[in-house]
Amino acid sequence: MSADLIIKNIGKLATMRGKSPFIGKAMNDIEIIENAYVAVKDGKFYEIGIGNNYNHLIDVHTIIDDAKGRLVTPGLIDAHTHLVHGGSRENEFAKKITGVPYLDILKSGGGILSTVKATKSASFEQLYDKARKSLDRMLEFGVTTVEAKSGYGLELDTEIKQLKVAKKLGKDHPINLIHTFLGAHAIPLEYKEDSEKFVDIIINDMMPKVKELELAEFCDVFCEYSVFNINQTRKIFKRAKELGYKLKIHADEIVSLGGAELSVEVGCVSADHLMAASDEGIRLMAQKNVVANILPATSFNLNKEYANVRKMIDINLAVSLSSDYNPGSCPSENLQFVMQLGCLGLKMTPNEVLSAVTINAACAIDRQDCIGSIDIGKDADLVIFDSPNVEYLMYHFGINHTYRVYKCGELVVDDKHTIYDKKCECILN
Ligand code: NIG
Ligand code: FE
Repeated sequence: MSADLIIKNIGKLATMRGKSPFIGKAMNDIEIIENAYVAVKDGKFYEIGIGNNYNHLIDVHTIIDDAKGRLVTPGLIDAHTHLVHGGSRENEFAKKITGVPYLDILKSGGGILSTVKATKSASFEQLYDKARKSLDRMLEFGVTTVEAKSGYGLELDTEIKQLKVAKKLGKDHPINLIHTFLGAHAIPLEYKEDSEKFVDIIINDMMPKVKELELAEFCDVFCEYSVFNINQTRKIFKRAKELGYKLKIHADEIVSLGGAELSVEVGCVSADHLMAASDEGIRLMAQKNVVANILPATSFNLNKEYANVRKMIDINLAVSLSSDYNPGSCPSENLQFVMQLGCLGLKMTPNEVLSAVTINAACAIDRQDCIGSIDIGKDADLVIFDSPNVEYLMYHFGINHTYRVYKCGELVVDDKHTIYDKKCECILN
């Protein structure tokens, strides 16, 4: 049978094959095939081989792309973003760098609450255009799947507006989107003295409606000191499970509250941040296969301690890395910078970092069966990097290493620039 596409002359092919997370030593001991080719048929990986043994796959329609000795990896996955939002918060930037704490800015009605105002007043089209630009940037950095959270409405209509924008983008843009409801992202000022009442509104009004409209697969909570406490988070998750949501949690980002432990108790797919997680919490997560989704660009930007990833890998906890792209704690779509911080800040090896943004990130969004690897039958999402090896991606920091990106076998980025408008307006979501 002939292939639709063959990428030949791959100097190093990092396959990341498998359908479960890479843990412990396996995060570093990855398969690299030298002088490889990859064949694609019907948007899926069809054959992987060595040298030029692909003649049996060629017919007149087969497109052949010469990687000229470059590095090829699976499409990168960003499993934690706050993609859709109005406005920006550079006005808080000066305060932040002089040391005003993130939670103090939030308490005084700024931070997340100021983005809530901007998101409420933005039209659907404004939110769509802004988020679409961000997705284009992400795609240019080699990202082919993105998780997108709501959480800048904090009331039903605006939460739904955000989620509908994300749904439409998932249909219109080559990047696949995974949708998360984060109505429990902050306590609106009017409920400051009665946060239980706001929790009830989330549980009784927002969560059933969002589910009924099929706008979100996951439910997430910002479980943090002076935001949602452990009991409130537990209550929200109990209802979320009854309604059929999968769970994610912003856990132990700033204060050690026991979010990691709660993620195990309720059965989260991932617990994210974990800069202040307890040893016991991460030990339990490793036992119960909750993915630790670490966001080093947020630590960098908030000038906080990095999460203790070396310890996590030592105890066989599955670690993924994501951007946390949002207008406050991480105003950057650049997952390659996150990868560089994985090495420079978290002290991970380049191979561990690659595991963390491919197969392990797929596990963090429960997509390990279809993406995250260059493996027969998985979606043909791949990046050709202008880089001879994995190490070079992290070593030469601050630039975009992408050469080409293929999404489901279609060329969507060429020479660092998106070209999907001309090639394929929309690929399956
Ligand atoms: O993951 N911590 C809560 N949520 C985001 C920040 C959102 C914002 O500041 O707008 C985070 O860091
Ligand atoms: Fe976040």
